Amino acid sequence: MRGQFLPDPIPDAVLSRLLTAAHFAPSVGFMQPWSFLLVRDPAIKRRVHDAFLHANAEAALLFEEDRRDQYRQLRLQGILEAPLNLCVTCDRDRAGPVVLGRTHNKAMDVYSTVCAVQNLWLAARAEGVGVGWVSIFRASALRDILQLPPRIVPVAYLCLGYVSYFNDRPDLEAAGWRGRLPLEQLVYLDRWGETGDEATAGLRENLRRDQREAILLKAASAAAE
Ligand SMILES: Cc1cc2nc3c(=O)[nH]c(=O)nc-3n(C[C@H](O)[C@H](O)[C@H](O)COP(=O)(O)O)c2cc1C
Repeated sequence: MRGQFLPDPIPDAVLSRLLTAAHFAPSVGFMQPWSFLLVRDPAIKRRVHDAFLHANAEAALLFEEDRRDQYRQLRLQGILEAPLNLCVTCDRDRAGPVVLGRTHNKAMDVYSTVCAVQNLWLAARAEGVGVGWVSIFRASALRDILQLPPRIVPVAYLCLGYVSYFNDRPDLEAAGWRGRLPLEQLVYLDRWGETGDEATAGLRENLRRDQREAILLKAASAAAE
């Protein structure tokens, strides 16, 4: 969700439900490492937008020349238009140095925070609120603007608001940037690269059908809104 934001504020009752959904996400060691930094001040949004423009100019240069022009035409954020920006953070120290479940993979707290983002995203969709994730920043710029202490990781910078319409398919797909992959080609059995042939034939048939149906359903629900 990037270009369709309406200025209408999200009522506190709705925002509270979204944040509650996020807070009920699963987390490693029940660490609940997230915090939710609401950004409404136009001056702060403007600084975040400037940080995006800076990083986005850098990003464009990373693509081959033919893709670079297409990249520059993509709209990749709605920071100024969305009535609410939300930085979802991860406090790496929230449960002390040794956290049940995070002992062998330190990234699990960040993954937990992403689960909270996904919960919020799904709840928002159910409330008719659009969400866009903006990831094209230098983390140091966000840290500086939002005054995050060193132990706090800015995991997601989200743009939220009611929208004029929901797309029937991802913007990047519609723009011809990249298509949806066939799910049945992403499922292996027992070993990487092992397709399972006969053993997974029935599952694959279902995956093909379900993917087709999901695409149709998404288009129908977008058209109905
Ligand atoms: C971790 C993550 C980072 C993303 N970063 C950006 C971004 O920087 N700019 C952008 O326009 N979209 C970003 N997106 C949005 C995806 O491109 C979008 O969700 C995807 O194209 C699917 O579209 P749909 O959600 O409308 O189905 C991000 C999504 C995720 C999950």
